Amino acid sequence: MLDIAVLVSGGGTNLQAVIDAVESGGITNTRITGVISNNKNAYALERAKEHGIKSICVSPKDFPSRAEFNQGFLEAVDALEPDLVVLAGFLVVIPPEMIEKYRNRMINIHPSLIPSFCGTGYYGLKVHEAALSRGVKVVGATVHFVDEGTDTGPIILQKAVEVEQGDTPEVLQRRVMEQAEWKILPRAIDLIANGRVKVEDGKTVILQ
Ligand code: GAR
Repeated sequence: MLDIAVLVSGGGTNLQAVIDAVESGGITNTRITGVISNNKNAYALERAKEHGIKSICVSPKDFPSRAEFNQGFLEAVDALEPDLVVLAGFLVVIPPEMIEKYRNRMINIHPSLIPSFCGTGYYGLKVHEAALSRGVKVVGATVHFVDEGTDTGPIILQKAVEVEQGDTPEVLQRRVMEQAEWKILPRAIDLIANGRVKVEDGKTVILQ
């Protein structure tokens, strides 16, 4: 059984996709041991509570310094004893100590086809604004392991989505979520839970 901790900052639609997949059997061998947010108003926390999942807020506002917040956050994650940490719309920079501790055991969903529209400053709606302003015709989402860089870790799954005439950033964001994010994040967790993802030379191999 893979115990996962899901880290969130906002609405939690990706968390919802994971909860639904665990409940419906789309993800097997997996238990969500807790959801942690850095933001007490994150609707994601309500989603967790509605499904009887332990939900915790660890806010930087409750700590005198960033270093102490990082320490407190890591302790909250460790307390859940996760086999896998899932960043599902978690918008806090992960401290190096946590990256080291959870190497190849922490994944992130990013709303673009990495290496396009990723890295520092590319998050949430900003990614879709940048894609529309560049005029690309295909966008998508990526699930990857987290390493020291921003969106640079080994890629696990990607899915492409077409841009349509007249898209706004909001409309495009929703299509990328529906057609890509809510599918590949649960799928990646299921693959990991069933021992089908291996990291070799900084790249993943999906075992058949
Ligand atoms: C999602 O689109 C996710 O890919 C993105 O934030 C959104 C959170 O939505 N994450 C990033 O941009 C990380 N760089 P949600 O709270 O409804 O899942």
